[in-house]
Amino acid sequence: MNPTTHYTDLGLVNTKEMFQKALEGQYAVPAYNFNNMEQLQGIILGCVESRSPVILQVSGSARKYANPTLLRYMAKGAVQMAKDAGAGIPIALHLDHGDSFELAKSCIDSGFSSVMLDGSHHPFDENAAITRQVVEYAHERDVTVEGELGVLAGVEDEVSHAVSHYTKPEEVEEFVARTGADSLAISIGTSHGACKFKVKPGEKVPALRFDILEEVARKVPGYPIVLHGASTVVPEYVRMINDFGGKMEDAVGIPEEQLRRAAGSAVCKINIDSDGRLAMTAVIRRIFAENPSEFDPRKYLGPAREELIKMVKLKNEKVLGSAGKA
Ligand code: G3H
Ligand code: 13P
Ligand code: ZN
Repeated sequence: MNPTTHYTDLGLVNTKEMFQKALEGQYAVPAYNFNNMEQLQGIILGCVESRSPVILQVSGSARKYANPTLLRYMAKGAVQMAKDAGAGIPIALHLDHGDSFELAKSCIDSGFSSVMLDGSHHPFDENAAITRQVVEYAHERDVTVEGELGVLAGVEDEVSHAVSHYTKPEEVEEFVARTGADSLAISIGTSHGACKFKVKPGEKVPALRFDILEEVARKVPGYPIVLHGASTVVPEYVRMINDFGGKMEDAVGIPEEQLRRAAGSAVCKINIDSDGRLAMTAVIRRIFAENPSEFDPRKYLGPAREELIKMVKLKNEKVLGSAGKA
């Protein structure tokens, strides 16, 4: 049995101050998913180089993949690595799409500074009750909690939804009051994964429902809103993947200008997983295609990590507006 670790022992911060500053400064804090060393290095270095606060995000299955004990020390190492690189940027470690009180508790006990309880697929009362249970445990330890109302289409941590159910703004105030959650993920048309919409050639992707976002912001003024499923699905990476033997036909994401608009509103956390996966996969495919005899992981994971650093910096600077805010 591992001893309990508080997130402050790892040098992490919770999301409270990050979100306050993001709301005031009209930008969004990036939440990048990771499950291995190169992804963690890429995210941290990209955020250090652009001086951005960052939320390191881990799903339940990613935590199993990396090993919970190793993950704790990786997070501690990431904080130190950022300091060594000359920038003590604020770093939070967040459970993405937590599906039970037990998982959230286990993460909090092993040093996470923030957790999501995603009860969005449950009826309202059940969602509120389980989120409240997590909030009580978390707040006693100064850990912040993200809840969710409304369902996104796509695949999230082994759960798949064919269609989205937009958040009902009229439910938000009661959910926030009943749960005490620190932030809320809402469904306004984003979607998980790399194939977010089915669009015919020449057609535009459907616009996000900014009317719902605005109505939510009116119901809970000054309250931090979160967008999941917010990868752009960078066309350059999709092209590279397809050019070098991959097969990603219907890959399409959220246009950058819509994310920029969201980041300037009540949205203060934007989740990005697929874009990081695509950046690394594109480079690895190119290297394997051009050098079929290569078998040293450093020779393909190293350049993939460099691409991730570049991508993170670009997102922070040009889309989220978080660059220079650390
Ligand atoms: O929304 C889910 C994230 O993209 C995490 O995905 O469960 O494959 O780690 P994962
Ligand atoms: P993407 O699949 O759009 O990157 O979304 C990631 C996400 O929402 C993680 O929770
Ligand atoms: Zn998500």
